[in-house]
Amino acid sequence: MQKPSILVARAVFPEVLDKLAQHFTVESNTEDRDWAGDELVQRLKDKAGALTTGGQRIDAPLLAACPQLRIVANMAVGYNNFDLDAMTAAGVQGTNTPDVLTETTADFGFALLMATARRITESEHFLRAGLWTQWRYDMFAGAEVHGSRLGIIGMGRIGQGIARRGAHGFGMEVVYHNRSRLAPQLEVECKARYVTKEELLRTADHVVLVLPYTAESHHTIGAPELALMKPTATLINIARGGIVDDTALALALRERRIAAAGLDVFEGEPQVHPGLLELPNVVLTPHIASATVGTRLAMAHLAADNLIAFFDGCGPLTPVNRPRSE
Ligand code: GLV
Repeated sequence: MQKPSILVARAVFPEVLDKLAQHFTVESNTEDRDWAGDELVQRLKDKAGALTTGGQRIDAPLLAACPQLRIVANMAVGYNNFDLDAMTAAGVQGTNTPDVLTETTADFGFALLMATARRITESEHFLRAGLWTQWRYDMFAGAEVHGSRLGIIGMGRIGQGIARRGAHGFGMEVVYHNRSRLAPQLEVECKARYVTKEELLRTADHVVLVLPYTAESHHTIGAPELALMKPTATLINIARGGIVDDTALALALRERRIAAAGLDVFEGEPQVHPGLLELPNVVLTPHIASATVGTRLAMAHLAADNLIAFFDGCGPLTPVNRPRSE
């Protein structure tokens, strides 16, 4: 029997490519270039499946040009690069990589919170610039983390992981806001109290964003929300660019209307708002929250296993839609 053809849109671990090659005819992106628009369509139009990394937009025009496509396996938990309605209507299965990255991403959320509150990158730049001789008693005095109030917006698996770290590890008082309240047992485990978004923004010392990007969550944090926050507060975004209005944030940081921000995701990434780049009170990382070797490997295997299970007729392992024709 002929193997189905698949496209692996970005470079991936060789052992995962080897596994895929046992089941599929694989076209892989050995040069690891960012195949934009037309090039992606050209390469995908004769393929039955694809492994994507979240940076490739799968939308109605692409689907119309790729009639043989049956499944796109995202190597990411977020899948806002999918036009899910268009995929479902076209009978194309989408999958993501939940669970395998939860704890690693929660670790990173906490690391970014610590780095931001304690001004770690700013102070490192100072040291590297040979300025340490200018010591002052209040040099790089940051915000307290232990015992402070942690506000989490988006209380899915990763949000809960951050809550546990804050409550159990750092004695923080955890408040959260989410579309729906957690089950009482989970609230107890996370030591987290449900509050309105407004109360969270007004009272939290550290606000961490961990919600999915949708039309509804676009600019969850904009100028009005920033205006509610304490002038001493930090804002951490490990969710998606577009959840924060980066222009409004750059202005609020410049005017010290909030103290600092830690950002792993950006509107229009890999471009970063120039107003953010020039500020000292923001820690910037290039979308690496799930980037440990073990977790990236687990994500790649899960994406590959979704493709294998789907074409074996077992059904995808971690589907994000139910296409009519499946
Ligand atoms: C990363 O941002 C992911 O969605 O896995």
